[in-house]
Amino acid sequence: MLELKDVSKIYRIGAFGRRKLLAVDRANFNIKDQTVVALVGESGSGKTTIGKMILKLISPTSGKIILDGEDITKIKRRRIKDYYLKVQGVFQDPFSSYNPIFKADRIFKMVHDSFFPEVPQNEWRKSVLKVIEQVGLNPDEVLNKFPHQLSGGQLQRFLIARALLMKVKLLVADEIISMLDASTRVDVLNLLVDLKKEGLSVLFITHDLSLGYYISDEVVIMYRGGVMEYGPTEEVFKNPIHPYTVSLLEAVPTFEKRWEEDIPAVSIEEEKATPVVQNESQMCKFYWRCNEADPEKCQSPGFKEITPGHFVACSRR
Ligand SMILES: Nc1ncnc2c1ncn2[C@@H]1O[C@H](COP(=O)(O)OP(=O)(O)OP(=O)(O)O)[C@@H](O)[C@H]1O
Ligand SMILES: [Mg+2]
Repeated sequence: MLELKDVSKIYRIGAFGRRKLLAVDRANFNIKDQTVVALVGESGSGKTTIGKMILKLISPTSGKIILDGEDITKIKRRRIKDYYLKVQGVFQDPFSSYNPIFKADRIFKMVHDSFFPEVPQNEWRKSVLKVIEQVGLNPDEVLNKFPHQLSGGQLQRFLIARALLMKVKLLVADEIISMLDASTRVDVLNLLVDLKKEGLSVLFITHDLSLGYYISDEVVIMYRGGVMEYGPTEEVFKNPIHPYTVSLLEAVPTFEKRWEEDIPAVSIEEEKATPVVQNESQMCKFYWRCNEADPEKCQSPGFKEITPGHFVACSRR
């Protein structure tokens, strides 16, 4: 359904934007219909940037994002509404999606007025009540309140309810679990899984590997703007191929395992060696931390399909 083809994003940083930062470097992956894809990677690896490009909040510097055969980076302004009928987002800080001076349920009215003005009010209200219940909220408790009178979890569920109401095809969920308590987390996670049955796909952005495993059908592992490994979740977790994925999985804390202090640290010098601009170096981004690094072989790792649907960007494999 949605396909990223060699998508890159360069931000201009520093005084007068003189320096460039390669936040996403030729990312390739697909999101199929009714599939939950976890986008996993450490802080700063470019996950939110990918989410924002899919939501058309920022444009890629190069590459294509194709939804149902159409390159969405080329969609004209007047057709953007059609796009948002198909793709919606929920963010880590749900408060930022609401205007504090209006009641929170105004988002449902706005959907009506902008997208479905022909639906009679009483019918619309019934649909709103239905989706609010569907996301596990009690309409009497949550309707008619200002954002500050609702919890972060309730506001996030409102946004999920809005996506349901619009019958979108893809929901981009960026770190939405982090501000919820443990029991609400499980509810929201299960809700996202249920959305699949409603026909939705979800791009679930997280830095938490175990959450990614819990929720997804497919997983994309990112490191410093590059996709290191991507494939069916079970397959990637049971048979990780990229040395970065292997090291990530080894670092997941478990109850049986005590913390070991032998995780290699990266020095500032090594950090600097990672290019900030495209094509400055084609060296694998993980080179500086990899036990198997080889200056000859680790140039331009490319992307190889190891087993059907399981892709790895490592020239040592
Ligand atoms: N608007 C911006 N201008 C300049 N640089 C940016 C901008 N947004 C993000 N970056 C930089 O791009 C890189 C990727 O950022 P991004 O927010 O996509 O990472 P992330 O994987 O979502 O991280 P986190 O897990 O901390 O949310 C980072 O180095 C970040 O500092
Ligand atoms: Mg982020």
